[in-house]
Amino acid sequence: MKELMQALRAASIQAILAADDAENLENLRVRYLGKKGELTGILRQMGKLSAEERPAMGQMANQLRTEIENAIEARRTELNKAMLEKKLELETVDVTLPAKDVRIGHKHPMYNVLDQIKEIFIGMGFEIVDGPEVELADYNFTKLNIDEGHPSREWTDTFYFTEDSKILLRTQTSPMQVHAMETKSLPIRMIAPGRVYRKDEVDATHSPMFHQIEGMVIDKGVTMADLKATLNLVVEKIYGEGTVTRFRPHHFPFTEPSCELDIQCHKCGGKGCPTCKGEGWIEVLGAGMVHPKVLSGCGIDPDVYSGWAFGMGLERLAMGEYKITDLRLIFENDVRFLEQF
Ligand code: PHE
Repeated sequence: MKELMQALRAASIQAILAADDAENLENLRVRYLGKKGELTGILRQMGKLSAEERPAMGQMANQLRTEIENAIEARRTELNKAMLEKKLELETVDVTLPAKDVRIGHKHPMYNVLDQIKEIFIGMGFEIVDGPEVELADYNFTKLNIDEGHPSREWTDTFYFTEDSKILLRTQTSPMQVHAMETKSLPIRMIAPGRVYRKDEVDATHSPMFHQIEGMVIDKGVTMADLKATLNLVVEKIYGEGTVTRFRPHHFPFTEPSCELDIQCHKCGGKGCPTCKGEGWIEVLGAGMVHPKVLSGCGIDPDVYSGWAFGMGLERLAMGEYKITDLRLIFENDVRFLEQF
């Protein structure tokens, strides 16, 4: 029996020292010290010993158990330490390595144009306001004198969120006219740039998301002459002094009278060329005098106050200014494209 225990001591200590992970070590503990383990197996044979031999053997077995336990514990500590060191080594940061290259983005050409337009209007005393892209049909349509049944409210053109057609992605920035009239004190001079959404297939000139700039002035005694003078000034600041404009009659439900503003093609001087698609003129914006129904709907007395408004597409302006021929380039945000401006 003594020989058996000595053999067990030698074998177990050797195996424990060779264990290379925690799981291995636990298996060894079960194998040597467990209920069905090897030490227990030896102790079962105690019955064969004489009464004189038993105490000494018992003492030896206890000592062996302690020895094995200590060996396991020591090896466990060793393995943990090694694991921690390995982890630390893996996670070390070599501070002498060159830093990762931080690529700085590039300002978008459309925002260059937008900033230029903001400057022009700020210089004329306008404020810049921002509003929701998720809008109520009431603001996008009804309060702008676009009643139910109007073709622009069709599901084929508008992104609606609800079955009842009450919440949508704004199709124009004109709801900002209503927000401004409802929340601001008079007089009002504001522009409201932002994204608008329409169900259009993507191609070189269409995108389901694009940008407009809304503008509005409400004061006493405002007339169409103010509209024309202000917009002519803006056009000259954008396209250069002496740019020829024309105001063409048009229809918008929320302005009366309404017009569209064209500039004479700066490329061909009005003769017709690819830039103006042979027209001699390039359409820039829609505008008009704020409809009395829209004013009164917003709590403004149309007998005392009047106003004018315009809406302008931003992408087209940037494409004209930078000679960009495909609208998709504007939204892809490829730095190789952006860095050209
Ligand atoms: N909201 C109109 C459009 O999207 C443009 C517009 C704005 C016209 C303001 C008149 C006044 O076409």
